[in-house]
Amino acid sequence: MPRTVYINGRYCAPEDATVSIFDRGLLFADAIYEVAGVINGKLLDFASHMQRLDRSLDEMRMPAPLTHDEILSVMRELVKRDQVEEGLVYMQISRGSTGDRDFLPPENMKPTVFMFAQHKSDVTRQEFQNGIKMISAPDIRWGRRDIKTVGLMGSVFAKWTAKEQGGAEVLMHQDGYVTEGGATSFYIIKDNTIITRPLSNDILHGCTRKALLKILEDGDIGLDERLYTLDEAHSADEAFITGASTFVCPVVQIDEAVLGTGKPGPVTRRLQDIYMDFIHKDAI
Ligand SMILES: Cc1ncc(COP(=O)(O)O)c(C=O)c1O
Repeated sequence: MPRTVYINGRYCAPEDATVSIFDRGLLFADAIYEVAGVINGKLLDFASHMQRLDRSLDEMRMPAPLTHDEILSVMRELVKRDQVEEGLVYMQISRGSTGDRDFLPPENMKPTVFMFAQHKSDVTRQEFQNGIKMISAPDIRWGRRDIKTVGLMGSVFAKWTAKEQGGAEVLMHQDGYVTEGGATSFYIIKDNTIITRPLSNDILHGCTRKALLKILEDGDIGLDERLYTLDEAHSADEAFITGASTFVCPVVQIDEAVLGTGKPGPVTRRLQDIYMDFIHKDAI
């Protein structure tokens, strides 16, 4: 079945969705994006993704090209047209094109917006069941990782390092402390307490992280948002990653260190159940 994408107000085939070579998204990575998970043909955590989108737009001093309702209806249309049961919808907004290359953009530019749906989730069913191995690498990204921009080569380099050493995801660290996964939020578990880095400009403010921590507020699993070292991660009881189409995925090995029994631990399994239960109810 031919794929349908959306660009600047129209639906078309991918090869007909064109942008100017002067688009600032291409020239400066002057663009932001969002990724919403899809399960049973429904969108996950939509309101939270829109909140983060607004924050990214504000930080980038860019106007919103579409309302949340308009975005919702385009995303739903793409999911429907491409018959996506499980996967994701990607949305990108760049500042647009001026017809020249200038570092400083003029005011009142017209943003370029495009979206597409994708059948592939970020983890396989096998990884979700059996857990993954992570490989550590220095975090070489820029200093505003809280803004979801498309300038992602730091993550691509880090993910290459992980892949070359047999890791499914990279675990990035800076100044001796863990930051996050290449495209995921990261957590360790020690003595029934989840430890994760607090929000700051050093990490992306994950929507899945936000939803999971909210669900946990009333439960019996502890939460400690603090800096922690790679050594602590190596000696954790359990670990896991989260993301819009990763959900809660167990981590069973970091570098040479096998965590616990080398199988997904009981707390991670519980978190998977709790989170999957939540999204099945919450999807729209
Ligand atoms: C660097 C990084 N951290 C965390 C996440 C997880 O964020 P979310 O749960 O909103 O998908 C992502 C997702 O793309 C990411 O790229």
